[in-house]
Amino acid sequence: MKETRLGSVVRVFGFMFVVIFAAISSAWSAQEEKLSTGLAWKDGGEIYTKICAYCHEADVGPPIRNRALPTAYIRTIVRNGNRAMPAFRASKIDDESLAKLADFISQKESQH
Ligand code: HEC
Repeated sequence: MKETRLGSVVRVFGFMFVVIFAAISSAWSAQEEKLSTGLAWKDGGEIYTKICAYCHEADVGPPIRNRALPTAYIRTIVRNGNRAMPAFRASKIDDESLAKLADFISQKESQH
């Protein structure tokens, strides 16, 4: 009797483990997929809002908008990083998107 109960407890936990593991691994692979096909940025503003604003609108990094920073400078910093500023590889922001992003940031008149 006792053994049967223990057996079913083990089975239930085993089942839960499998379900949780399956959920985690599918969530993980969905994320991997998003990263590898993550070149579908709509425009520079979207990248800025989703990536850069996280620090640059939160006093973690200095303000970078409306300062007319040269686009080449922005692209270099983004690709290589600079001290506390993380580098972003082409797998995260492709060259075309980076160009749009740099344009977006350097445009003085643009507001978001
Ligand atoms: C994890 C936080 C973080 C994120 C995300 C981030 N930055 Fe930065 N960034 C920083 C910090 C901190 C600095 C200041 C680095 C230093 O001088 O030590 C910086 C500096 C910069 C500079 C140089 C500013 C200057 O005054 O010379 C540029 C340009 C820049 N970031 C662009 C970007 C862009 C574009 C993105 C989005 C793709 C981005 N950053 C995302 C933290 C971040």
